[in-house]
Amino acid sequence: MIRLKNEEQSAGIRKSCKLLSEMFAYIRQMVIPGITTLELDTKAQAFIEEHGGVPAFLGYPSSGDHMDFPASLCTSVNDEVIHGIPGKRVLRPGDIIGLDCGINLEGYFSDAAITIALPPVAPGTDRLLAVTRECLDRAIAAVKPGGRIHDISRAVYSHAKANGYGVVRQYCGHGVGFAPHEDPQVPNYVGNGPNPRLRAGMVLAIEPMINLGGDGVKELDDGWTVVTSDKSLSAHFEHSVLVTETGVEILTYW
Ligand code: CO
Repeated sequence: MIRLKNEEQSAGIRKSCKLLSEMFAYIRQMVIPGITTLELDTKAQAFIEEHGGVPAFLGYPSSGDHMDFPASLCTSVNDEVIHGIPGKRVLRPGDIIGLDCGINLEGYFSDAAITIALPPVAPGTDRLLAVTRECLDRAIAAVKPGGRIHDISRAVYSHAKANGYGVVRQYCGHGVGFAPHEDPQVPNYVGNGPNPRLRAGMVLAIEPMINLGGDGVKELDDGWTVVTSDKSLSAHFEHSVLVTETGVEILTYW
């Protein structure tokens, strides 16, 4: 069931998204060679808690029989697509890292992600990141009341495929605001799934996951980390957006 947000609720979600955006501004400057993914997570969690928020992914239940998600930040390096678990891994020059985070602020949930490249950045890597961001921009531009979820899906898929990239199918965007994940699903390809109409008051997390190689991904034995099947690089950008009476409001920023 899709739960629309009234003005007061939208304001609460907007506040949560603002704190999340400030967290990204704070944490992204720490993404330099030599830092571990665990250090980034520790800093992110402290920032969120100091500002009265609760990390929304920490303790998130596994869909299978694995452990709950043990961190505040998902840190996905190189061929890791999403849900990478922070740990001892040290970032090195030339790596890319996806940072995905959600916050619960006073009961209102936000969700966003960025992928950051550590110089020197190979031209092919730079292009993957640029096109993935363009996929997100185009997807957001497709959001308007009266439109449909598949308008978003088509915008992502067509731009990624026009550039020869793989599009992750097993994971998708989603509603957000009252919980970390709500209806509707927002796939990055046009399938046979539900295609609800977009209405003012919907809050969506739109999140293209684009691979340098093929579409295929698999989950590692930790029950969380998703990697590309062909070990190619993967990029991920995500914003939370509000459908308004006239179009769309982007609630998160990096
Ligand atoms: Co999300």
